[in-house]
Parts: sequence; structure tokens; C-alpha cells
Amino acid sequence: MNESDQATAAEPRHEDLVDERLVRWYFLAALLYLGVSMTGGLLMALQLVHWNPLNGIEIFSPGRWRFIHTNAVAYGFLANAFLGMLHWTVPRLTLHRVGSVKLSYFIFGAWQVIVLSTAAAFIVGPTLQAQPWVANLTASLQIPFSLGAQGIEWGETPFWIDPVALLGLVLVGVNFMVPIAKAKGPLYVTLWYFMAMFVWTPLTYAMGNFLPEYMVPGVNAGAVGGLFIHDLVGLFVTPLGWGMMYYIVPILLKKPIWSHGLSLVGFWGLAFFYPLQGIHHFLYTPIPMFLQYHAVISTIAVEFVVATVVINFIGTLWGDGRMIVTNLPLRWFYTGMIYYFITCFQCALQVTLTFQKLIHFTDWVVGHAHLVMFGVFSMWIFGFMTYLFPRLLNRPWYSRNLCEWHFWLSASGVFIMFLDLGLAGVFQGYYWAALFPWDVSVNGSQPFWVVRVFAGLMMFGGFLCFVYNLWKTYRGYAPAAATAPAPAVAPA
Ligand code: HEM
Repeated sequence: MNESDQATAAEPRHEDLVDERLVRWYFLAALLYLGVSMTGGLLMALQLVHWNPLNGIEIFSPGRWRFIHTNAVAYGFLANAFLGMLHWTVPRLTLHRVGSVKLSYFIFGAWQVIVLSTAAAFIVGPTLQAQPWVANLTASLQIPFSLGAQGIEWGETPFWIDPVALLGLVLVGVNFMVPIAKAKGPLYVTLWYFMAMFVWTPLTYAMGNFLPEYMVPGVNAGAVGGLFIHDLVGLFVTPLGWGMMYYIVPILLKKPIWSHGLSLVGFWGLAFFYPLQGIHHFLYTPIPMFLQYHAVISTIAVEFVVATVVINFIGTLWGDGRMIVTNLPLRWFYTGMIYYFITCFQCALQVTLTFQKLIHFTDWVVGHAHLVMFGVFSMWIFGFMTYLFPRLLNRPWYSRNLCEWHFWLSASGVFIMFLDLGLAGVFQGYYWAALFPWDVSVNGSQPFWVVRVFAGLMMFGGFLCFVYNLWKTYRGYAPAAATAPAPAVAPA
């Protein structure tokens, strides 16, 4: 069943269901953080080839901006963009408004405070901590933690923000579960994914931000941390991404998903295998080997699940392949899906112990991370925004060409980065295996890191095209009544 099937004769009006202003705000906040994150990525990349123009300025030190890069992407860009997407899709699929629009606005504001305070803590926290009066104050108040980042991968958010962020995630779930609980009839698979995410994400966040910090020490903290970083991708970003794909593709193609049965295989496969894989981030560590083998096997198993999902979407596209050329949102989604398949196929190989011997801790992993985070989920978000902004602003895109530039610069930039860093990882692995001095591998990586700067500039260039296009489109904004909604980049 798809969105249109769920509609009934007494269907409420779209404007009574969706608060479009909130969706616009979420998307704009997401784009702002993406710009900041990419600037951080470029700073790091420039630093590694000795071209950092801000070298020596403490608050721009790459160590701090690496945290900004990853956190702004996860909690600033992806979270805001997905929240905007949820505010559009959930009311339309359930035909009910969110639990409380006021709560939605409150969450929007609170979430921005969380993201901005985190960024501020990363930038000024270490400097503050170094001041004698601050050190004395924290000692007298018996605050045993850093004022800057915490030493937990992806859980670097300062300790006083963790409980607030967790509460925010719970409220998000409650606010969206209200319309889902009111929905009549069987729920479309998109809502299955979203419901799972509302439960999984707070649990994942709590596990990663509290257990290693306060309760589980040593090697066990590593195991929990591995599970946390993996589940953050698999149980927060992935269900939202696939839920969005199941929502939008039938709308763009104007036909139902090929097999509802296969979509459920994909959902339950993800639910079963994904949470078992966390330790594959820490193979060859003191974590017991039986747990490491276990993670390897379930990682390979999930690739079969992914194959069923991909087959389902290919089946849905069958007969309409040409639309990928003409329909830009569809192209973003299907390109992201191909990248997803490549990432997962790569994952099934790189998770083996044989492969790990070579690529563990190398730039191979960084290339893999960019393909999945940017090449898949960000590209799906761009596809959704490309589809939605003309509807949110009641006018077509200012320039189709700029939309094309955005697509091609992003899609090719990230693929070049992925290939480049993958190759860098292989070289680094062999340098280390040959027991060359560390400097040899750093010097040998330079050409690859230079290529990364240019690939990053391509991605950034694509982003700037999008922002400029959006600005020009917005400048022509007029109230709905005065303009005909005729998006140039339309799914027709
Ligand atoms: C302007 C484009 C970008 C450049 C130049 C860039 C560069 C970098 C650099 C230099 C690192 C640190 C690598 C290291 O520690 O060795 C990094 C890490 C990372 N970046 Fe980016 N990045 C860019 C865009 C993005 C985007 C848009 C995303 C996500 C949507 C992203 C996701 C990540 C992730 C997940 C990591 C952590 C990788 C890991 O720890 O394995 N990056 N990036």
C-alpha cells in the first residue's frame, strides 16, 4: 500500500496536516550545518597537505574542527534534514497532524541550542579548561569531566548536553507516534522504519553516551562504543533513509513498490542483523574472538538483506529506467542506492579478518565513511529537498542547470574521494605491514590527500550551486494564492 492508497474520501487537506514553515526551517538549518561541516572537512584536508590557511589560530585547530565536521554532519545536517522530512511524510502517511505542533517548534529550537552548544564546547572548551581559574573551579565543584569533547567516538558531545539530547530524542518519538497510533488500516513500510527508529535511536544514544563514560570501563567500553557508532548509522540514519526512499519512489514513479513482501524482508533483516555487528569496528582488539567472528558473520549476512531491498527498488523502476535521466529527485535516490550497494558490498569484504589485516586504521575506512554518509544518505536528502523545495516555496527551481551541477559535482566528487581514499588505504596498509617508519606512510599518502582536497572542493562546489539556486528560487517567493505551483524539477 502506498501513500495514495491510505487516503480516504474524507481526506484532510494537506495544509491542515503539514506545517510547511517548520519543514522549511529544518531544511535551512540542515543546510547551514552542512556548510559548516564541509568547511571543517576542508580545513582538515588542507591541514594534512600543509595548505591550511588558518594554521596557528587556536580556535581553528584541525583537531577541534574534525569534531565539528563529524558532529555537524550527524546532529546538525542529517538530524535536522530528517526531522524536516518526518514533519512532511508522517502526517501525509497517517492523515493526522503531529502530536503537538508547539512541541515540534520547541524541539526545533532546543535541538539547535544543543548542536550550537556542542560546537561552542568543541571550539572553546579546551581553551577554557586550560585557564587556571576554570581548573580551580571545576576541581572545587568536583566536575571530573572535560569542558570540551568527551573521548567517545561520535559521542563527543559534552557531558552536560547528553541528557538533554536524550530527552529531545524521546520527545521526537512521542510527537510522531501520536499520528501513527491514530492511523487506521495496515501501516505502510515507511512507517515501520520510522517507528523502529523512534525506539532504537534513544536507546542507542543512551548506550553510547552513558555506558562507556560512567559504567563500563576498558575493553568492554570499546565493544559498547563499536556497537554505538554502528547503530547510530544502522538504527538511526538507515531506517530514516530507507523509510524516505520507500515513501518517495512510488510517488515519483506513480506506481506502488514492486513487492511489499520483500520490503518486509528488508525491514526485519535489518532489525535482526544490524545490532549484532558493532564489534566489526574493533577487529583484532582484545575483545574476545568469538564476538569478533560473530560480528563478521552478521555483517556478511546483512549484505543479503541489502540485496533484497535493492532488487525490490530495481523491480519498481523496471520499465521506467529512462526517468532517471529526466527526473532529478529520482536520479538522486537511485544513484544513492547504487552507492549504498557498493558500500555494503565493500563492507562484506573489508569485514573479513584477511582484509582487515591490510586496511584497519587506514584511509580506506574514511573513504567508506564518506561514501555511505555523503554518497547515500546526504544524496537521498538532496533528492528529497530537490523534490520538496519547489513545493515548499510554491515555485519552480530558479535553474535546472544548477540542479544538474549540484548533482554531478556531488555524485562524482564523492566517488572520486571514495576511490582515492580506498587506494590510499591500501598503500598505507602495505607501508605499515612492511614496517617502514611512520613518516614513509605519511609522505606516501600526500598525493592521495591532495586529490581528496579537490574531490572535497567538487562536493563543496555542488553544495554552493544548490544554495545559490535555492536563494534565487526563494527570492522569487510569492504567497501560494498568487502563484501556480509548477515545479521545474517535477516528478512528472
Ligand atoms: C568538503 C567535503 C569534505 C571533505 C574535504 C572532508 C574531509 C574529511 C577529513 C579530512 C576527515 C578526517 C579524516 C581523518 O581523520 O583521517 C573526514 C572525516 C569524516 N567525514 Fe568528511 N569531508 C567532507 C565532507 C563530508 C560530508 C558531507 C560528510 C557526511 C555527510 C562527511 C563525513 C565524514 C565522516 C563520517 C568522517 C569520519 C570518518 C572516520 O572516522 O572514519 N564528510 N572528512
